Amino acid sequence: MRHCIYPGTFDPITFGHLDVLERATKLFDRVTVALALDTTKAPLFSAAEREAMIRPNVARYTNVSIVTFSGLLVNFAVEQKAVAIIRGLRALSDFEFEFNMALMNRHLDESIETIFVMPSEQFSYTSSSLVKQIAKLGGDMANFVPANVAAELKKKFAA
Ligand code: COA
Repeated sequence: MRHCIYPGTFDPITFGHLDVLERATKLFDRVTVALALDTTKAPLFSAAEREAMIRPNVARYTNVSIVTFSGLLVNFAVEQKAVAIIRGLRALSDFEFEFNMALMNRHLDESIETIFVMPSEQFSYTSSSLVKQIAKLGGDMANFVPANVAAELKKKFAA
């Protein structure tokens, strides 16, 4: 049973994240979407809200679960008996951050491998912060996030 962790802040989840997840489900027997509580970001949505937005979008996969975690990602991966961490690389600009994080995680625990996949090029410029900016300014988010996420973003900015 090959198990991998797909970690992120997912504030909120986008079609780009879901593209990476779909690829992960084909490469691994089991995928755990790991919602990080310890992130350098100040999320707009609470962890419970982020998880609730992810859930309906992964319901069709029989091998995907969602877990929130705190502390170091590699420790969580080991606890979960995962063999790998999967991350998406959208463009060259992601490379430095992702490369440093992968090497630091390897330094912390040699047993966990980081695997990178490239999401479809149509998502190469999608990011959670740009989507939040569009939502805040009343733009159309339909091409970037699922309908339930777009609805939650609208609610958040209407409040
Ligand atoms: N499609 C669309 N957007 C994508 C994407 C894709 N395929 N892949 C990444 N992104 C975007 C996200 O939208 C997000 O955009 P934003 O910066 O505008 O918000 C950004 O790229 C990355 O966010 P996300 O994918 O949610 O992950 P992250 O970089 O916030 O995750 C953790 C970082 C959680 C993996 C990291 O903080 C962590 O491991 N924390 C645990 C503590 C720890 O172990 N720290 C030591 C690490 S060495």
